[in-house]
Amino acid sequence: MKRSQPILQGVHLARAFGEGEKKTLALRDVSIRLEPGQVGLLMGPSGSGKSTLLAVLSGLLKPDKGSVIALGEDLWALSERERERFRLLHCGFTFQGYNLFPALTARQQLELVLTLGERATAAQARRRAEEILAVLDLADKGHLRPSQLSGGEKQRVAVGRALMKSPTFCFADEPTSALDWTNGQQVVKLLEAAAHQDGAVVLIVSHDARLIPFADRVFHLEDGCMAGRQPDTETARHGDSQIRMPSPRLPTNGYATERTFDDESELAELPI
Ligand SMILES: Nc1ncnc2c1ncn2[C@@H]1O[C@H](COP(=O)(O)OP(=O)(O)OP(=O)(O)O)[C@@H](O)[C@H]1O
Ligand SMILES: [Mg+2]
Repeated sequence: MKRSQPILQGVHLARAFGEGEKKTLALRDVSIRLEPGQVGLLMGPSGSGKSTLLAVLSGLLKPDKGSVIALGEDLWALSERERERFRLLHCGFTFQGYNLFPALTARQQLELVLTLGERATAAQARRRAEEILAVLDLADKGHLRPSQLSGGEKQRVAVGRALMKSPTFCFADEPTSALDWTNGQQVVKLLEAAAHQDGAVVLIVSHDARLIPFADRVFHLEDGCMAGRQPDTETARHGDSQIRMPSPRLPTNGYATERTFDDESELAELPI
Protein backbone atom coordinates (compact mmCIF):
# COMPACT_ATOMS: atom_id res chain seq x y z
CA MET A 1 0.00 0.00 0.00
CA LYS A 2 1.32 3.43 -0.84
CA ARG A 3 1.80 5.80 2.06
CA SER A 4 1.46 9.57 2.09
CA GLN A 5 1.16 12.22 4.78
CA PRO A 6 -1.03 11.21 7.69
CA ILE A 7 -4.26 13.01 7.03
CA LEU A 8 -7.84 12.17 7.72
CA GLN A 9 -10.57 13.31 5.43
CA GLY A 10 -14.24 12.45 5.26
CA VAL A 11 -15.97 13.57 2.08
CA HIS A 12 -19.76 13.93 1.76
CA LEU A 13 -20.48 11.21 4.28
CA ALA A 14 -24.01 9.95 4.78
CA ARG A 15 -25.24 7.15 7.02
CA ALA A 16 -28.76 6.07 7.92
CA PHE A 17 -30.07 3.49 10.37
CA GLY A 18 -33.31 1.56 10.00
CA GLU A 19 -35.92 1.53 7.27
CA GLY A 20 -39.14 3.32 6.32
CA GLU A 21 -40.75 5.44 9.03
CA LYS A 22 -38.15 4.30 11.53
CA LYS A 23 -35.26 5.47 9.36
CA THR A 24 -32.81 7.81 11.10
CA LEU A 25 -30.42 9.91 9.03
CA ALA A 26 -27.52 9.93 11.46
CA LEU A 27 -25.21 11.63 8.96
CA ARG A 28 -26.69 13.59 6.05
CA ASP A 29 -23.74 15.13 4.19
CA VAL A 30 -20.69 15.61 6.34
CA SER A 31 -17.21 16.55 5.21
CA ILE A 32 -14.31 16.97 7.59
CA ARG A 33 -10.55 17.19 7.26
CA LEU A 34 -7.74 16.94 9.79
CA GLU A 35 -4.02 17.43 9.29
CA PRO A 36 -1.16 15.63 11.04
CA GLY A 37 -0.56 16.93 14.55
CA GLN A 38 -4.05 18.35 14.95
CA VAL A 39 -6.57 17.85 17.70
CA GLY A 40 -10.11 18.00 16.36
CA LEU A 41 -13.00 18.41 18.75
CA LEU A 42 -16.38 17.21 17.56
CA MET A 43 -19.29 18.72 19.46
CA GLY A 44 -23.05 18.70 19.13
CA PRO A 45 -26.26 17.63 20.85
CA SER A 46 -27.03 14.06 21.84
CA GLY A 47 -28.12 12.11 18.77
CA SER A 48 -26.54 14.56 16.32
CA GLY A 49 -24.34 11.84 14.80
CA LYS A 50 -21.00 12.33 16.56
CA SER A 51 -20.34 8.68 17.44
CA THR A 52 -21.59 7.64 14.02
CA LEU A 53 -19.12 10.00 12.35
CA LEU A 54 -16.28 8.71 14.52
CA ALA A 55 -17.15 5.12 13.64
CA VAL A 56 -17.31 5.92 9.92
CA LEU A 57 -14.01 7.86 9.95
CA SER A 58 -12.24 5.12 11.87
CA GLY A 59 -13.26 2.32 9.54
CA LEU A 60 -15.69 0.68 11.93
CA LEU A 61 -18.99 1.59 10.25
CA LYS A 62 -19.53 1.70 6.52
CA PRO A 63 -21.07 4.93 5.23
CA ASP A 64 -23.99 4.75 2.79
CA LYS A 65 -22.40 7.53 0.76
CA GLY A 66 -19.11 9.37 0.67
CA SER A 67 -15.54 8.33 1.31
CA VAL A 68 -12.91 8.40 4.02
CA ILE A 69 -9.30 9.04 3.05
CA ALA A 70 -6.73 8.15 5.68
CA LEU A 71 -3.00 8.11 4.98
CA GLY A 72 -3.81 8.37 1.31
CA GLU A 73 -6.00 5.24 1.39
CA ASP A 74 -9.68 5.20 0.56
CA LEU A 75 -10.59 3.35 3.74
CA TRP A 76 -13.91 2.02 2.52
CA ALA A 77 -12.44 0.79 -0.78
CA LEU A 78 -10.10 -1.55 1.10
CA SER A 79 -11.06 -5.16 1.77
CA GLU A 80 -12.35 -5.94 5.26
CA ARG A 81 -9.06 -7.60 6.03
CA GLU A 82 -6.98 -4.63 4.82
CA ARG A 83 -9.20 -2.27 6.82
CA GLU A 84 -8.74 -4.36 9.96
CA ARG A 85 -5.00 -4.28 9.43
CA PHE A 86 -5.14 -0.53 8.89
CA ARG A 87 -6.98 -0.10 12.20
CA LEU A 88 -4.61 -2.41 14.00
CA LEU A 89 -1.53 -0.61 12.71
CA HIS A 90 -2.65 3.00 12.80
CA CYS A 91 -5.71 3.60 14.99
CA GLY A 92 -6.31 3.94 18.70
CA PHE A 93 -9.84 4.07 20.07
CA THR A 94 -11.60 5.11 23.24
CA PHE A 95 -15.27 4.22 23.11
CA GLN A 96 -18.14 5.79 25.01
CA GLY A 97 -18.61 2.57 27.00
CA TYR A 98 -14.83 2.04 27.59
CA ASN A 99 -14.91 -1.56 26.21
CA LEU A 100 -12.41 -2.90 28.72
CA PHE A 101 -11.88 -6.64 29.09
CA PRO A 102 -13.45 -7.68 32.41
CA ALA A 103 -10.87 -10.38 33.15
CA LEU A 104 -7.77 -8.25 32.61
CA THR A 105 -6.12 -5.88 35.05
CA ALA A 106 -5.64 -2.24 34.09
CA ARG A 107 -2.01 -2.87 33.21
CA GLN A 108 -2.83 -5.95 31.14
CA GLN A 109 -5.43 -4.01 29.13
CA LEU A 110 -2.63 -1.69 28.03
CA GLU A 111 0.05 -4.34 27.57
CA LEU A 112 -2.21 -6.37 25.30
CA VAL A 113 -2.17 -3.65 22.65
CA LEU A 114 1.55 -4.07 22.18
CA THR A 115 1.98 -7.77 22.79
CA LEU A 116 -0.87 -8.69 20.42
CA GLY A 117 -0.81 -5.96 17.84
CA GLU A 118 2.77 -4.88 17.57
CA ARG A 119 4.73 -7.90 18.73
CA ALA A 120 6.59 -5.95 21.39
CA THR A 121 8.26 -7.99 24.10
CA ALA A 122 6.41 -8.42 27.38
CA ALA A 123 9.04 -6.24 29.07
CA GLN A 124 8.64 -3.43 26.51
CA ALA A 125 4.86 -3.57 26.80
CA ARG A 126 5.05 -3.49 30.57
CA ARG A 127 7.40 -0.52 30.57
CA ARG A 128 5.16 1.51 28.24
CA ALA A 129 2.00 0.52 30.16
CA GLU A 130 3.57 1.63 33.42
CA GLU A 131 4.67 4.95 31.89
CA ILE A 132 1.16 5.67 30.65
CA LEU A 133 -0.53 4.55 33.86
CA ALA A 134 1.78 6.89 35.78
CA VAL A 135 0.89 9.87 33.57
CA LEU A 136 -2.79 9.08 34.12
CA ASP A 137 -2.23 8.93 37.88
CA LEU A 138 -3.07 5.22 37.90
CA ALA A 139 0.34 3.85 38.89
CA ASP A 140 -1.10 2.19 41.98
CA LYS A 141 -4.17 0.77 40.17
CA GLY A 142 -2.44 -1.30 37.51
CA HIS A 143 -3.25 -4.59 39.25
CA LEU A 144 -7.02 -3.93 39.44
CA ARG A 145 -9.71 -5.27 37.10
CA PRO A 146 -12.45 -3.05 35.63
CA SER A 147 -14.98 -4.18 38.27
CA GLN A 148 -12.60 -2.85 40.93
CA LEU A 149 -12.04 0.50 39.24
CA SER A 150 -14.18 3.62 39.49
CA GLY A 151 -15.88 4.95 36.34
CA GLY A 152 -13.26 7.67 35.94
CA GLU A 153 -10.42 5.22 36.47
CA LYS A 154 -11.87 2.91 33.82
CA GLN A 155 -12.12 5.86 31.46
CA ARG A 156 -8.48 6.75 32.02
CA VAL A 157 -7.43 3.14 31.41
CA ALA A 158 -9.38 3.22 28.13
CA VAL A 159 -7.60 6.40 27.03
CA GLY A 160 -4.25 4.95 28.05
CA ARG A 161 -4.97 1.85 26.00
CA ALA A 162 -5.79 3.97 22.94
CA LEU A 163 -2.40 5.67 23.18
CA MET A 164 -0.25 2.61 23.89
CA LYS A 165 0.90 2.11 20.33
CA SER A 166 1.38 5.83 19.60
CA PRO A 167 -1.29 5.62 16.90
CA THR A 168 -1.34 7.76 13.78
CA PHE A 169 -5.07 8.30 14.37
CA CYS A 170 -6.64 8.47 17.79
CA PHE A 171 -10.43 8.48 18.09
CA ALA A 172 -11.80 9.30 21.53
CA ASP A 173 -15.55 9.30 22.15
CA GLU A 174 -16.38 11.33 25.26
CA PRO A 175 -13.02 10.55 26.90
CA THR A 176 -13.64 12.82 29.88
CA SER A 177 -17.35 12.29 30.54
CA ALA A 178 -16.80 10.46 33.84
CA LEU A 179 -13.92 12.62 35.03
CA ASP A 180 -13.61 15.61 37.30
CA TRP A 181 -11.82 18.50 35.66
CA THR A 182 -8.42 17.71 37.18
CA ASN A 183 -8.43 14.20 35.73
CA GLY A 184 -10.21 15.40 32.59
CA GLN A 185 -7.38 17.84 31.89
CA GLN A 186 -4.83 15.11 32.44
CA VAL A 187 -6.54 12.94 29.85
CA VAL A 188 -6.94 15.75 27.35
CA LYS A 189 -3.35 16.84 27.74
CA LEU A 190 -2.26 13.29 27.00
CA LEU A 191 -4.37 13.28 23.83
CA GLU A 192 -3.07 16.72 22.95
CA ALA A 193 0.51 15.53 23.38
CA ALA A 194 -0.17 12.60 21.03
CA ALA A 195 -1.04 15.17 18.37
CA HIS A 196 1.28 18.08 19.11
CA GLN A 197 4.35 16.08 20.13
CA ASP A 198 3.95 12.83 18.18
CA GLY A 199 2.12 14.17 15.11
CA ALA A 200 -0.99 12.03 15.47
CA VAL A 201 -4.41 13.06 14.22
CA VAL A 202 -6.64 13.12 17.31
CA LEU A 203 -10.40 13.40 17.03
CA ILE A 204 -12.27 13.85 20.29
CA VAL A 205 -16.04 13.79 20.69
CA SER A 206 -17.23 15.77 23.68
CA HIS A 207 -20.02 17.91 25.04
CA ASP A 208 -17.59 19.64 27.36
CA ALA A 209 -16.78 23.21 26.26
CA ARG A 210 -13.76 23.22 28.58
CA LEU A 211 -12.00 21.08 25.98
CA ILE A 212 -12.26 23.76 23.31
CA PRO A 213 -8.98 25.50 24.18
CA PHE A 214 -7.10 22.23 23.73
CA ALA A 215 -8.37 21.72 20.20
CA ASP A 216 -6.88 23.01 16.97
CA ARG A 217 -10.18 22.60 15.16
CA VAL A 218 -13.69 22.53 16.55
CA PHE A 219 -16.52 20.95 14.57
CA HIS A 220 -20.20 21.18 15.43
CA LEU A 221 -22.65 18.54 14.31
CA GLU A 222 -26.37 19.17 14.37
CA ASP A 223 -28.88 16.62 13.21
CA GLY A 224 -26.34 14.87 11.00
CA CYS A 225 -24.98 18.06 9.42
CA MET A 226 -22.03 20.29 10.18
CA ALA A 227 -22.62 23.44 12.17
CA GLY A 228 -24.97 26.30 11.65
CA ARG A 229 -24.34 29.97 12.24
CA GLN A 230 -22.69 31.19 15.40
CA PRO A 231 -21.71 34.67 16.63
CA ASP A 232 -18.58 36.09 15.01
CA THR A 233 -16.18 35.40 17.80
CA GLU A 234 -16.24 33.47 20.99
CA THR A 235 -13.90 33.60 23.90
CA ALA A 236 -12.73 30.44 25.53
CA ARG A 237 -11.02 30.44 28.87
CA HIS A 238 -8.13 28.16 29.50
CA GLY A 239 -6.57 28.69 32.90
CA ASP A 240 -5.71 32.36 33.04
CA SER A 241 -5.38 32.78 29.32
CA GLN A 242 -8.08 34.08 27.05
CA ILE A 243 -8.21 32.68 23.57
CA ARG A 244 -10.24 34.31 20.83
CA MET A 245 -11.72 31.95 18.31
CA PRO A 246 -13.53 32.45 15.05
CA SER A 247 -16.76 30.53 15.42
CA PRO A 248 -17.82 27.68 13.22
CA ARG A 249 -19.77 28.86 10.18
CA LEU A 250 -21.88 27.13 7.69
CA PRO A 251 -19.38 26.20 5.01
CA THR A 252 -19.99 26.86 1.36
CA ASN A 253 -17.90 23.91 0.19
CA GLY A 254 -19.40 21.29 2.48
CA TYR A 255 -16.41 21.40 4.83
CA ALA A 256 -16.74 22.35 8.44
CA THR A 257 -14.89 25.47 9.40
CA GLU A 258 -13.02 25.71 12.62
CA ARG A 259 -11.01 27.94 14.83
CA THR A 260 -7.24 28.35 14.93
CA PHE A 261 -5.70 29.91 18.00
CA ASP A 262 -4.38 33.41 17.51
CA ASP A 263 -1.51 32.68 19.82
CA GLU A 264 -0.54 29.09 20.52
CA SER A 265 1.76 30.23 23.30
CA GLU A 266 -1.30 31.07 25.33
CA LEU A 267 -2.01 27.41 25.77
CA ALA A 268 -0.83 25.75 28.95
CA GLU A 269 2.42 23.83 28.81
CA LEU A 270 2.03 20.08 28.67
CA PRO A 271 2.87 18.38 31.96
CA ILE A 272 4.17 15.28 30.18
N1 LIG B 1 -27.18 1.08 15.48
C1 LIG B 1 -28.13 2.00 15.39
N2 LIG B 1 -29.40 1.67 15.05
C2 LIG B 1 -30.35 2.60 14.92
N3 LIG B 1 -30.16 3.92 15.13
C3 LIG B 1 -28.92 4.31 15.48
C4 LIG B 1 -27.84 3.38 15.63
N4 LIG B 1 -26.72 4.07 15.98
C5 LIG B 1 -27.10 5.36 16.06
N5 LIG B 1 -28.41 5.51 15.74
C6 LIG B 1 -29.15 6.78 15.70
O1 LIG B 1 -28.41 7.71 14.94
C7 LIG B 1 -28.46 9.00 15.55
C8 LIG B 1 -27.05 9.46 15.84
O2 LIG B 1 -26.49 8.63 16.86
P1 LIG B 1 -25.07 8.88 17.47
O3 LIG B 1 -24.79 7.75 18.42
O4 LIG B 1 -24.10 9.08 16.37
O5 LIG B 1 -25.27 10.25 18.25
P2 LIG B 1 -24.28 11.08 19.19
O6 LIG B 1 -24.17 12.45 18.61
O7 LIG B 1 -23.02 10.30 19.38
O8 LIG B 1 -25.09 11.16 20.54
P3 LIG B 1 -24.58 11.16 22.08
O9 LIG B 1 -24.03 12.51 22.36
O10 LIG B 1 -25.83 10.88 22.85
O11 LIG B 1 -23.56 10.05 22.23
C9 LIG B 1 -29.32 8.85 16.79
O12 LIG B 1 -30.62 9.28 16.46
C10 LIG B 1 -29.29 7.36 17.08
O13 LIG B 1 -30.48 6.94 17.70
MG1 LIG C 1 -22.22 9.34 21.03
